[in-house]
Amino acid sequence: MSHVVYNCRGRGTITSVAKRVQTLNFENQGLTPWLRIMRDGEGLDSASTDNMTITLLGSYDGVELIRHELKRYGLMGFNPPSASNVFEGIVLTSGVLRITYGDHTEVLGPGSVVSMAPVQQAVCIVALEQAEFVYVTSTSIFKSYKEWVEKFHHMATEIAMKDGYTASHCERIRKYSVMIGCQLNLSAHDLISLSCGALFHDIGKIRAFCRMTDSIASENDAHFS
Ligand SMILES: [Fe+2]
Repeated sequence: MSHVVYNCRGRGTITSVAKRVQTLNFENQGLTPWLRIMRDGEGLDSASTDNMTITLLGSYDGVELIRHELKRYGLMGFNPPSASNVFEGIVLTSGVLRITYGDHTEVLGPGSVVSMAPVQQAVCIVALEQAEFVYVTSTSIFKSYKEWVEKFHHMATEIAMKDGYTASHCERIRKYSVMIGCQLNLSAHDLISLSCGALFHDIGKIRAFCRMTDSIASENDAHFS
């Protein structure tokens, strides 16, 4: 049986990742061997929005493997992490990705690998066709990432429903905005901002709608009392 083994005690640094690769000698470490196999579609944990599903495939000693499934014009973006020596990697397994790093843009096909260390500028990944990639990071982010994804999805759905549109209204506006942003060759930072802004463009309607219904209700109470 083959083992995947890490013995480094350091967490989340380029040095520790390099050491893990160099020290695949399990026998001397006194650890319990383990091997986990997940079939297609399985995962340890997952979260979804209208345009993206993230699935935690593996996690050990600060390193995480996160599968991303992006619909067409789905977007994944991140700003430079606080730790300066974080390693980030992407392995594209299917579809076409447009990746913008700062002001630089590349279009990638299946089999492409992108590695970044340290990440110093915003990174924005847009699926030009439905795409799937594995994201490797040397920091444990999945828990907060999942909370963030679920919060965004909940807010977008709530706005769309309050507004009386279908629940996909905000996502549709976001998608068209990202399409235009790509045509305009916006920077990674601006594309991420545009995507968020478009998704929440109707956010004022939640409070306005509640105020309106409250005032209608109180007027009716006054009329019928
Ligand atoms: Fe709207």
